[in-house]
Amino acid sequence: MRMPLIAGNWKMNGSLTLVEQFGQAFAEAALAPSVEVCLIPPFPYLGAAQAALAGTPVALGAQTLNPEPSGAHTGEVSAAMLAEFGVRYVLVGHSERRSLYGEDDVAVSARVVSALEAGLTPVLCVGETLEQREAERTEAVVLGQLEAVFDALAPESRRRVVIAYEPVWAIGTGRTATPEQAQAVHAAIRRRLAAYAPELAETLRVLYGGSMKADNAAELLAQPDIDGGLVGGASLKVDDFLAICQSAG
Ligand code: 13P
Repeated sequence: MRMPLIAGNWKMNGSLTLVEQFGQAFAEAALAPSVEVCLIPPFPYLGAAQAALAGTPVALGAQTLNPEPSGAHTGEVSAAMLAEFGVRYVLVGHSERRSLYGEDDVAVSARVVSALEAGLTPVLCVGETLEQREAERTEAVVLGQLEAVFDALAPESRRRVVIAYEPVWAIGTGRTATPEQAQAVHAAIRRRLAAYAPELAETLRVLYGGSMKADNAAELLAQPDIDGGLVGGASLKVDDFLAICQSAG
């Protein structure tokens, strides 16, 4: 059984006040024990979020990392630093990192390795652009992004990765993939995982991201190969995010 994971990626949004508000709401909320929840605020809020979420079942995540252990990398943050703040999950290869900050498959792969070495769980983001979908290249693109990382990983490391399928055209656009569109890609990902090892296909979680909201989460999460959500905009409102978490339980 794969436990659903709902992760809220705040991107470059939020405030200390919002961190406190989430801490309070999740301390009082009755979350089903069958769902895992993770909050992913910007770096400066990690310390406050660690304190605010202590005593709640919500795990802490980070939005990216630099693969180097330390050194002259102004503005960057290492895996070990994230681990010091109790970070459990770290996003890697988010489409915004790929498109705005030039992270290619090699950079993504190095970040996955570095996260794993520090004991963090990388959430490997994959997804096609609208142009690629219209050219019927969705599977080739998504599986190519997956293989660029998984081919280089040892079998025991592959077991420790979470995958997030985020069609780029659905991110922040309000244009969610239909449950059928999402399920088709998730199933393709799972078939590829099965080719690495049947056990991987059974145990690895594949999250969906892209305009997931309180009113469409349940039907997406009901798909057999969708094991949770990576939520952007709707994770900034505590009631909306709680409703999504509850629809996964
Ligand atoms: P939205 O939910 O705002 O579309 O963002 C999705 C996303 O990119 C989460 O990482």
